[in-house]
Amino acid sequence: MRRVLGIETSCDETGIAIYDCTQGLVAQAVYSQVPIHAQYGGVVPELASRDHVRKTLPLIRQVMEEAGIEPGAIDGVAFTAGPGLMGALLVGTALGRSLAWAWGVPSIGVHHMEGHLLAPLLEEPAPAFPFVALLVSGGHTQLVEVRGIGRYRILGESLDDAAGEAFDKTAKILDLPYPGGPALAQLAERGDPTRFHFPRPMTDRPGLDFSFSGLKTFALNTVREQLAQPADRDQTRADIARAFEDAVVDTLVIKCRRALKETGFQRLILAGGVSANRRLRARMNEAIAADGGETYYPRLALCTDNGAMIAYAGWHRLNAGQCEPLGFKPRARWPM
Ligand code: KG4
Ligand code: ZN
Repeated sequence: MRRVLGIETSCDETGIAIYDCTQGLVAQAVYSQVPIHAQYGGVVPELASRDHVRKTLPLIRQVMEEAGIEPGAIDGVAFTAGPGLMGALLVGTALGRSLAWAWGVPSIGVHHMEGHLLAPLLEEPAPAFPFVALLVSGGHTQLVEVRGIGRYRILGESLDDAAGEAFDKTAKILDLPYPGGPALAQLAERGDPTRFHFPRPMTDRPGLDFSFSGLKTFALNTVREQLAQPADRDQTRADIARAFEDAVVDTLVIKCRRALKETGFQRLILAGGVSANRRLRARMNEAIAADGGETYYPRLALCTDNGAMIAYAGWHRLNAGQCEPLGFKPRARWPM
């Protein structure tokens, strides 16, 4: 198994890539549907599916042309099989399975979060096993003990909103455009970190689970209280954004340090959309280094949804001899 085509269509990004085990990532492209969903303030599942239908094949052609690879030189196809939006998953699954059938090669359905989890291994230097992974995306917040490919144990996860979801909902409260995470982070740059103090949920008791929905409520109450005042509204919004971001970042840092301590591991990897957050990276690096540990991230383009992580995770599984039957079904909900 040398070259694997990866197809990601679980949400609002169409990601296509080719992973070659002798050369690494040889080509990749991501098409974002954000402008389509922005006018509705969130992802509209039906529109997402239709746009994946429109974009997947042209992007596959583009990536194969860029890499100078003919269909006969692809040895396997990997597609995201879940978790995600059912209609969107069906597009990638049906196309991936069909291409594999037409080309006479095996195909494999990949767990989206395993894709995120393995993305840092596409970088140099790649972290050695074992490590703790903090997966922070729009749909998930999980701490995972990783002893090798396929050897995962969930150490903790969010009991309600995912970290990215909390960013997006709080951004909405602050009247920021969708997707809110990056916009909120940008607004927070101008914020005064000393004006408001938000709680650090679930850090005062043992355990590695998270709860972020209270922060969104805290933000809502602060906005209602403060914006009724005649003070500078724009500065107040920035100060609230900063206080929220600091609370999420501190909470994640506290739990990651705890996870490393409990496992006795030295290496931490971060992946998923929220791991693109600059303040999170800076504070995490500092805290983990102070404990004598190491922190690893994928490059920014591999933090958010992409086809490269699916091609890579799929290569490992196909190379180990796994593959899917023709009548394969995606799973909107799928525990890792
Ligand atoms: O992994 P991802 O691209 O998609 C999912 O699988 O969910 O993550 C998207 C999430 C969104 O909630 C987005 O607001 C958040 O990642 N995000 C950020 C930043 N960039 C993306 N959150 C905070 N700061 C950022 N810089
Ligand atoms: Zn994702």
